[in-house]
Amino acid sequence: MEKETILVTSALPYANGPIHFGHIAGAYLPADVFVRYHRLKKNDIVYICGTDEYGVAITIGAEKAGRSPREHTDIYHKVIKDIFKKFNIQFDHFSRTTTELHRELSQKFFTELHTNRFIEDKMIEQHFCPKCRRFLADRFIEGTCYLCGQKEARGDECPGCGAWLDPLKLKDVKCKVCGTTPLIQSTRHWFLKLGEFKDRLKEWIDRHPYWKPNVVNTAKKQLEELTSRPITRDLSWGIPVPLPEAKDKVLYVWFDAPIGYMDATMEWAQQTGQPDKWKHYWQNPKCRIVNFIGKDNIPFHLLVWPAMIMGQTTPYTLAENIPANEFYNLEGRQFSKSEGWYVELDDFFKKYSSDQIRYAIAANAPETKDSDFNWRDFQKFNNADLANVLGNLVHRTLTFTLKNFGGKIPPFRGNNEKIQTLLQEIDRRQNAIAELYQTYQLRKASYEVIDMARLGNRFFDESEPWNQIKKDKTLCGEMIFGIFRLLEKLSVCLWPILPSTAEAIFEQIGIKTPLKETGWDFSSLIPSDGSQSIGEPRILFGKIEDEEIEKEIRKLKDSLTLKNAPATAYDPLKEGISYEDFSRMDIRVGQILEASPIKKSDKLLQLKIDLGVEKRQIVAGIAQHYKADELPGKKVAILVNLAPRKLMGIESSGMVLAASFSGQLRLLDPGDLPPGATIR
Ligand code: MF3
Ligand code: ZN
Repeated sequence: MEKETILVTSALPYANGPIHFGHIAGAYLPADVFVRYHRLKKNDIVYICGTDEYGVAITIGAEKAGRSPREHTDIYHKVIKDIFKKFNIQFDHFSRTTTELHRELSQKFFTELHTNRFIEDKMIEQHFCPKCRRFLADRFIEGTCYLCGQKEARGDECPGCGAWLDPLKLKDVKCKVCGTTPLIQSTRHWFLKLGEFKDRLKEWIDRHPYWKPNVVNTAKKQLEELTSRPITRDLSWGIPVPLPEAKDKVLYVWFDAPIGYMDATMEWAQQTGQPDKWKHYWQNPKCRIVNFIGKDNIPFHLLVWPAMIMGQTTPYTLAENIPANEFYNLEGRQFSKSEGWYVELDDFFKKYSSDQIRYAIAANAPETKDSDFNWRDFQKFNNADLANVLGNLVHRTLTFTLKNFGGKIPPFRGNNEKIQTLLQEIDRRQNAIAELYQTYQLRKASYEVIDMARLGNRFFDESEPWNQIKKDKTLCGEMIFGIFRLLEKLSVCLWPILPSTAEAIFEQIGIKTPLKETGWDFSSLIPSDGSQSIGEPRILFGKIEDEEIEKEIRKLKDSLTLKNAPATAYDPLKEGISYEDFSRMDIRVGQILEASPIKKSDKLLQLKIDLGVEKRQIVAGIAQHYKADELPGKKVAILVNLAPRKLMGIESSGMVLAASFSGQLRLLDPGDLPPGATIR
């Protein structure tokens, strides 16, 4: 079969902060899976991405962080790149929009549109902040969306309905930096005459009846209202408008960003020593260009970017599909780092693997409606599907082989009908899975790959090899051989979603060829003469315990309350004291030896504490924040010369010190100093 030529892009993330599961689920994992499938098919495919580094959001982010935009984007370009590594998202090239090449190509795009009279300049009214003394473009203003009523809509995009807004129509507008109600003043700007592309856009969209209905509907609604839109801004951070009369103006970030797909491809071509290769994708009507995005990016990819391409003199390829996804939330509400509603990624990846999260996201991907990450589902996906079904099948097959066949895959004579049926069934399933990968159906694909493992377990159970081995060892061996063939195929089918696991299974069943090289349409590498030794069986997925999950949920809720604590949560400062007053307090490091709940009290815990020089009994009001069994061994700070007193009838000599804020409490950690050490 002829090889397909495919260029895949994922939305260029703003280099303005870390990305989270929501981004991964919307635009990156689905793309990575699609790309991996086609890599196995040995198609000619490149996967391009990079960071989006201009625009007002970046300027504001940098200002807040006390950095220049350049420093800011340098930092986040790297942060984001590293996050993708953790999720095992593998681009062929990851660029950024602040390159020289990007500036040149963006200016070329502008110039060709201008020459072709698709760009016009106009004096317009614009918001101007008298206090900040600047024109307020895009995210410098905030107001209520006139289309959907969403509050905190920006001057350009509405986070509620995704529309490209006319800032002058926005209601209750405020300057985002200082909160002042802006004035309206005139300034000159350059407009892209989008209205002129209406028919061509409609025709292009209609030419693809197989696109996702949510994507097409969103675009078509906005298609009707397409008019000229300003594509220049009064900013210093951006790509200069290539016109002598447009001094001090830069291109609007949504004008330059998608061009990044193309120049990143050029950069990739240069760096891989085939400088003209980019044309093979961008100037080749046979190339399928697929843009993976989240739904908030639909208008820019279905209307603005294709119009920009249509208005060029140089011919370029338009997208063949734009499988946009809905939103992926966290436990029912949008991820928000600033509100404390997010999962700390460093911490996450210390405990869990990329395949665990890839599977959880894929199995519940926001394909047709919003979906979310929640900890209990994460536990269930891991324990039920990955550990009990997939991990178990691999493990029981390997250990049985080790024990009964000396660690060699038993031979197969080829005339066993049951095995032949199994082999046909897995071939059929592989084809069904291929279809799902090709049509962006991540959820179903995840179900099907695990179901193939389920099939394997059923076959194992029904074959009863533990009985069969006593009756007919040869026949028993053939059953096991069949399961190895299933595992081999399963690995290949799994690889797009669970690459590390698939590779690990390949290794464990003793196949030396790297999975990537085998490809999708491989013939079995398992010899039927009984000569192949298996590798060492290792547990693929551990169980995630209930307590672990409860801890994660508690942490999430705590961080939300902490981040949203009102200013009144701070205790007022106390009156000054003398040094003598302070030095009379004897504060020491203590180590908790025992901790037990106190009957009839839900606040107090009874502690036995080692102070180095002696042991003490202390009653502490920490029961709502710490469980008794997590305390022994923990070192804490203790005020030891406080007069003893009785609490709930129990004598307490001393006080455990803790930091508290807005209903939260944390014991202080003295690090590696021993019990008895003085704190001053
Ligand atoms: N940075 C944009 C966002 O995060 C996406 C840009 S996609 C591109 O919403 F096509 F413009 F590159
Ligand atoms: Zn809106």
